[in-house]
Amino acid sequence: MKSRKLVYEGKSKILYEGPEPGTLVQYFKDDTTALDATKKAVLEGKGVLNNRISEYLMTKLTDIGVPNHFMRRLNMREQLIREVEIIPLEVVVRNIAAGSLSKRLGIEEGTTLPRSIIEFFLKDDKLHDPMVTEEHITAFQWAAPQEIDEMVASAIRINDFLSGLFLGLGIRLVDVKLEFGRLWENDMMRVILADEISPDSMRLWDVRTNEKMDKDRFRKDLGGVMEAYSEVAKRLGILNELQNNERKGPVLVK
Ligand code: CDP
Repeated sequence: MKSRKLVYEGKSKILYEGPEPGTLVQYFKDDTTALDATKKAVLEGKGVLNNRISEYLMTKLTDIGVPNHFMRRLNMREQLIREVEIIPLEVVVRNIAAGSLSKRLGIEEGTTLPRSIIEFFLKDDKLHDPMVTEEHITAFQWAAPQEIDEMVASAIRINDFLSGLFLGLGIRLVDVKLEFGRLWENDMMRVILADEISPDSMRLWDVRTNEKMDKDRFRKDLGGVMEAYSEVAKRLGILNELQNNERKGPVLVK
């Protein structure tokens, strides 16, 4: 086996040193956590699907000029990414009320929002990822005002693009969580999209049936988690390719 230096291990992904300076290898695990990691499971094949779904969406975003960390997929579970300094914020864009917004503000789940709403959460498991405002972000220097502007502009563009892409596949994009990082090129610094975009980080509802096709199936014990993730991959047109590869080797999706 390759001996690679582990850079960071998170709840659902591992980062290894990449082949060249400034690159990392992002490995997608089958591990799934929810409710501040008090709920855990291994969903066989989830990492394979998320690797492929995230590759597909990041590539599409590159095509429309949204800078992101994705370079290329290496194998079933790994992708090569640009190393960035992660900004310690989760940027959530919401189109329909669900999850913590419904709970916090008493707005019924499923209510279409009057306009897309952006929220920031501090990435800190010990504090349970509290919601923060731009005031907190600039006062505590988690990000500079210009970086916030860049994240918001990018998040709106990503949300609009993904909403249209998924609607064409009969899926409503309810909300999506994005993470950004700083990339230095010589003396220049840019803020680019990082992390992943997958059913672990978005809420996706079937337009016709309102069935949940995302991690809420796990959070709420609805069952059929992998079937839902597979259906998303199928509608994106990437599952056939995965099944064709299956004949050559590892078992992919149960
Ligand atoms: O998921 P929960 O109800 O705790 O939080 P939310 O603020 O309603 O989540 C908004 C969106 O961000 C959903 O699509 C979640 O799946 C995603 N999210 C995430 O990817 N990682 C987190 N730590 C929290 C939320």
